[in-house]
Amino acid sequence: MIFEILSTSAAAVLVGFSYLKRSELDDGEKIKKIALNCGLYVKEGKEIRTMQLYRKKKHEWGMEYVYRIPLGMSLTDFEKKMEHFRDGLNNRKNPIKFKSFLYLNFRENLIPQIQKILRDRYVSDKDVELKYDGMLHVKVLDRHIPKKINFHANMLGECIDWEIPLGETRYGFINHDMERGHITLAGATRKGKTVFLKLIITSVIHQQPDNIKLTLIDLKGGLAFTRFKNVKQVLEVATNIDEALSALQKVKNEMDQMKGWFDKNGSEDIKEAGVDTRHFIIVDEAAQISPNIITGKEEKEKARKCEEALSEIARIGAGLGYRLIYCSQYPTADVMNKQIKQNCDTVITYKLRDAVASRVVLDESGAEKLEVPGRAIYKTPDGVQLVQTPFIENEQIEKIIDTHIIIKTRKEEIKIEKTAKSGGSTFKLEEV
Ligand SMILES: Nc1ncnc2c1ncn2[C@@H]1O[C@H](COP(=O)(O)OP(=O)(O)O)[C@@H](O)[C@H]1O
Ligand SMILES: [Mg+2]
Repeated sequence: MIFEILSTSAAAVLVGFSYLKRSELDDGEKIKKIALNCGLYVKEGKEIRTMQLYRKKKHEWGMEYVYRIPLGMSLTDFEKKMEHFRDGLNNRKNPIKFKSFLYLNFRENLIPQIQKILRDRYVSDKDVELKYDGMLHVKVLDRHIPKKINFHANMLGECIDWEIPLGETRYGFINHDMERGHITLAGATRKGKTVFLKLIITSVIHQQPDNIKLTLIDLKGGLAFTRFKNVKQVLEVATNIDEALSALQKVKNEMDQMKGWFDKNGSEDIKEAGVDTRHFIIVDEAAQISPNIITGKEEKEKARKCEEALSEIARIGAGLGYRLIYCSQYPTADVMNKQIKQNCDTVITYKLRDAVASRVVLDESGAEKLEVPGRAIYKTPDGVQLVQTPFIENEQIEKIIDTHIIIKTRKEEIKIEKTAKSGGSTFKLEEV
């Protein structure tokens, strides 16, 4: 009896292994087949020339297949069929959860139990990346991204200079360098935008306490940012349109003065001027200050002025040390003006309503398929990748910002003082 049980379960495990092996090996051939079915071939007389597998390599993140492609075809031809490759490689359910075999009940018939395990295997979520260097590299990334990752203070230890912990990707955990410029953050409600903004704020305060200034705007509730109100580095927490306008105009004035100083000193940008200060302007639920959304003549006018200031920050702020983080559920052209959109090199988006919304935000579909909170698409000029951003608890935030809390007795006097390293002249800006 025992022998029978062992041999049956061993057979079941073997079936599982061989299934997995077969499914892994098949992808290279499958890519060829998808390409053929999508018309990615060249006809020469009676002959049909298709892509040919040249080599394949296993990586920590998945498999890389390298193909020769027929003369006359380009990377763009393949990129256009990206969704077909993605769907084609994911139409099979795998991998099998081997752990499930440990829970087999040997007192009952094993066959239906094994059939159930095979049936229940979760749908794979492989991703595909293409690169061309004379050969077509098709990367099939199948490294699993956890459904949730919790923030840990050690993550900050791994960040250097202006980096913040961004999250787990197919390639492993990555940081984002805030020096890359402005960011657009999008995503439907309750998918993790505000949590991520709090993660950014907490990280930069921790990493660069002496070099950072923050202007925080949140008109929807405003409670999320109030915990930062008494932090030394936080200049304003605006929770209504009047406060938002006043805060943004202060930023704009400060920026104009800074620009004047730069022009006078012949500095081209903040690096050349040797100024270490960065001023983050973080706007949550930005649609609330969009003139196209807001109603009422007076309020509309205020919103228009807010938008004007935001556009200017987006347009000239980066080189002067200003970093805009513009967050909206669905940044359509109505909500987000062109100037802002065009100047945000980094786009991070959580789940969006549909493929159309995804194309508006990312210029490609995909964000509609993101499911869990914290799962996002991260797009920079270097490329696009999937990421699970860390979930930070309010208690963790409080612990980190605690040492930076001061008693603010009256409306803060904003004082920016910076000694330029190059040239030795002093940039001093006071605003009362
Ligand atoms: N990175 C994350 N990982 C897992 N769950 C998250 C994450 N961020 C947010 N959540 C969950 O989603 C909820 C809503 O998050 P929130 O940031 O307020 O969403 P949004 O601002 O997009 O409406 C949180 O209370 C939390 O339960
Ligand atoms: Mg929110």
